[in-house]
Amino acid sequence: MILPATDETIRQAAERLAAGELIGLPTETVYGLAANAWDAAAVTKIFAAKSRPATNPLIVHVAGIERLRDALQWPPPPIIGQQIDALSDLWPGPLTIVGPRGSKIPDEVTAGKTTVAVRIPAHPVARRLLQACPFPLAAPSANRSTYISPTLAEHVCDASGLGHAVALVIDGGPCTHGVESTILLLGQQPRLLRPGSITAERLAERLRIGVEELQWQPQTPSADPAREALLAPGMLREHYAPATPLVLLPLAVTDRRAAPADGRAIGRIAFQRLSPHEAARYRIVETLSDRGDLEEVARHLFAALRRLDAAGLSEIHCDTCSPQGLGQAIMDRLTRAAARTRKG
Ligand code: TXA
Ligand code: MG
Repeated sequence: MILPATDETIRQAAERLAAGELIGLPTETVYGLAANAWDAAAVTKIFAAKSRPATNPLIVHVAGIERLRDALQWPPPPIIGQQIDALSDLWPGPLTIVGPRGSKIPDEVTAGKTTVAVRIPAHPVARRLLQACPFPLAAPSANRSTYISPTLAEHVCDASGLGHAVALVIDGGPCTHGVESTILLLGQQPRLLRPGSITAERLAERLRIGVEELQWQPQTPSADPAREALLAPGMLREHYAPATPLVLLPLAVTDRRAAPADGRAIGRIAFQRLSPHEAARYRIVETLSDRGDLEEVARHLFAALRRLDAAGLSEIHCDTCSPQGLGQAIMDRLTRAAARTRKG
């Protein structure tokens, strides 16, 4: 059941969460499937609903910096305390930090790890709900494991979604960022575990280190998959994937593979407006931005992938961008979404 974000809905949602139920929660990145993070039984329901491996830990959401102690060991080790201070002007916002876990967070949330991932979402509805709850919220993206993250309330409940698992979904409108939060591992050697709309450049600037010291490799898994699994268990190579084969088009326009004229139904995701000639080759074109603006591309990407995936196409062809700034997050998601297609 999708409900408008009224005070009454927020009150009901807080009550359902306190009773150990799950709800669909809007955030500025993607919709989350939320449970009381201190309630192991409720958290277990998240894994069952998503068919998520129990080895893939969840992100804990808190209302503000003063509530980080609800999830992290407090006070944290000095170096982590300093890093939190250095990053504090990025919150609330789409930045998740990974640090030593607080004692109230059950093993189910962290998959037994000694660290926990925490974020302070900026979406006004998420903030109202977090303020109404005396506990933090564990919330992964509200999609079946490995499917495309939801950026509209309806995505949480549609045919392939999680409608059966939630007491209610709060409608907070379309997500403004559209890609999941940036994940940063804190400590002696900070490490970018997942690129997002808070870019590596911005983090490096705050932490006063070089971008290269953040060590994010665009093509995962790395040469050392065991180490990778340990650091970022959720960074599965195949992720965010539509069921329809997804082909990433090379960057240079002249290299672009022409859509075959053999009658196959091909959909196209364009980062900017196509010429009528090029558009005519496709059954459906989804234009994410008029002028190739990457913020618009990120905001609209997942919804477009979902629409094309539901359109009975034989292939989806998608534009690409250079993996810098926000382009790093966009290319990370697209590379994973296309992994199954590439494997054949
Ligand atoms: O934008 C977001 O972060 C969204 C919204 C709902 O907040 N949430 C989200 O959650 O994307 P999820 O579960 O889809 O992705 C969480 C990622 C996974 O890759 C997981 O492995 C990683 O965070 N993670 C969680 N705890 C971790 C930990 N202790 N160490 C390393 N990675 C961790
Ligand atoms: Mg997810």
